[in-house]
Amino acid sequence: MCGIVGYIGFRESQPILIEGLKKLEYRGYDSAGIAVHTERGLEVTKAVGRLVNLENRLTGEPLCGTIGIGHTRWATHGKPSDANSHPHTDNSLKFSVVHNGIIENYLELKEELMLAGHRFLSETDTEVISHLISVEYEGDIVKAVQKAVRKMRGAFALGVLTEHEPDRLVAVRYASPLIIGVGEGEKFIASDIPAILEYTRDIYILEDGEMAVLTREGVELLTVEGNPVAKDVFRVNWDLMTAEKGGYDHFMLKEIYEQPRAYRDTMRGRVSEDGRSVVLPELSITAEQLRAVSRVHIVACGTAMHAGMVGKTVIEQLARIPVEVDVASEYRYRSPIITKDTLVIVVSQSGETADTLAALREAKRCGARVLAITNVVGSSVAREADDVIITLAGPEIAVASTKAYSTMLIAFFLLGLYMAQTLGTQEEAEIARVLAAMDSLPEQVESILGQAETVKGIAESIAKSSSLFFIGRGIDYAVALEGSLKLKEISYIHSEAYAAGELKHGTLALIEDGVPVIALLTQEDLFEKTVSNIKEVKARGAEVLGLVNEGHEEASAKTVDRQFAIPRTLPLLTPALSVIPLQLLSYYASLALGHDVDKPRNLAKSVTVE
Ligand code: M6R
Repeated sequence: MCGIVGYIGFRESQPILIEGLKKLEYRGYDSAGIAVHTERGLEVTKAVGRLVNLENRLTGEPLCGTIGIGHTRWATHGKPSDANSHPHTDNSLKFSVVHNGIIENYLELKEELMLAGHRFLSETDTEVISHLISVEYEGDIVKAVQKAVRKMRGAFALGVLTEHEPDRLVAVRYASPLIIGVGEGEKFIASDIPAILEYTRDIYILEDGEMAVLTREGVELLTVEGNPVAKDVFRVNWDLMTAEKGGYDHFMLKEIYEQPRAYRDTMRGRVSEDGRSVVLPELSITAEQLRAVSRVHIVACGTAMHAGMVGKTVIEQLARIPVEVDVASEYRYRSPIITKDTLVIVVSQSGETADTLAALREAKRCGARVLAITNVVGSSVAREADDVIITLAGPEIAVASTKAYSTMLIAFFLLGLYMAQTLGTQEEAEIARVLAAMDSLPEQVESILGQAETVKGIAESIAKSSSLFFIGRGIDYAVALEGSLKLKEISYIHSEAYAAGELKHGTLALIEDGVPVIALLTQEDLFEKTVSNIKEVKARGAEVLGLVNEGHEEASAKTVDRQFAIPRTLPLLTPALSVIPLQLLSYYASLALGHDVDKPRNLAKSVTVE
């Protein structure tokens, strides 16, 4: 997704903008650009592709000046190209804008502007903003931005510069994240903290409908209507090192290896000292309110939705409340039955996914209570939900989610147990038994990671295939979906996940000699049934890799061609272990194929458009 950086201060802005944009690369982008107020006026340089292309362009002709804005674009309106890259300017070249989000009524606005003689150079919605501001400008950039914003509909975060006022930088937030960094004699804007952490730890987090006017000396916060806003500076206490690779070849591998730590952190302080109950002091939902919940909706996208599918089984088994899982982009449009006794759980690593946020708002509009599971403190989802469980995975930089997914599972285990103990649906001894098993998960993950070389070997043979299948039953099916998505997104190998029993209803036609099938067999009560499905694919020539529980290898050896065993845990908790070899499998397959593991094609880390 797009990234914004802005600077006003006493140093050269170009290197600060470029370095800041590099820190936002994890969000995914396809072009980049900067605008700087130089001694010649407002100057813009842009380049399609990676940031290095922009740097190369700037090498011969640097933009010198101490105020500037920069942007990494992930194409939404118009293809990735130099012309469509930000910053965008008006026809007089006096106003320059960087923008994250979408202006829904841009075509209407563009038509009006064209009738008034404005010429457009790009296909973007953003270019309309710079023109609108130029039209509204009467000597005060703040007022012009306010007037322009009033004409715009949609979601946006903006950084605005004008040649007329070289000592002011304006930022606006409307449903797209934006922060303001406060330094001595210098100020920053950014769509995410890592972009400016090298320079300051003091930030303001803008809320929807707020804007900031930055000068070298200070920051004025106000609403887009012009009313002053008072808020405290937020001190960031995590350092940039946590966001760096720490010796691993890729962020994804580092993040896979961080999972034991992430599990411990996510559980820390949430289990009573005697290990017999869950403590979630962050939840404000009362026991009475929880008892009134008659159904749960889990809403999320992609990997987070797959975590939600595990969450459904966890909540239904432990708390005995019916749960539906929805893809967030579908939720609002299917007229879901949301009542006051519906608990809507939104799950989002970034906390900024537009579809998930829209679902959250719809749920609230219908009077439901919303609980969020997210990895980002202060994210939109975290701020708008009634209750939040933060997964303490730490910043996840690789686009392919690993530790954020697995800590969502930990959050669901904790939540399911918490609901069960509150509702009295499980004996205290059973809750203690699950908690004891959870306590062993980090060590068990470590032991799986110790077999990474074995997985690497399997991945290298799989990487030669053009298509493969993941199958499983029950909770194994939910993990199969995640394993398949992971492989697709970073290795670009076609793969599908199927409920093992469903294959025979059509998809078996695709199984032929040598097609790899990864069969998850961790649910021992479903073992025999899954074995029958494995026989169906074997009979058609499939090469089957079984993912089994330790101690169960002998039983499956007769059916599968190869197997990988994971440590034994309670059936409900197996996803937290079985997903680990699948993450490694995708990583090594992508590596074997020479792909950019951390920045796969056509994907963004945080998808802030619907
Ligand atoms: O930030 P979110 O968890 O809301 O993101 C949802 C999906 O976009 C995300 O999980 C996506 O599927 C990842 N690329 C998966 O690795």
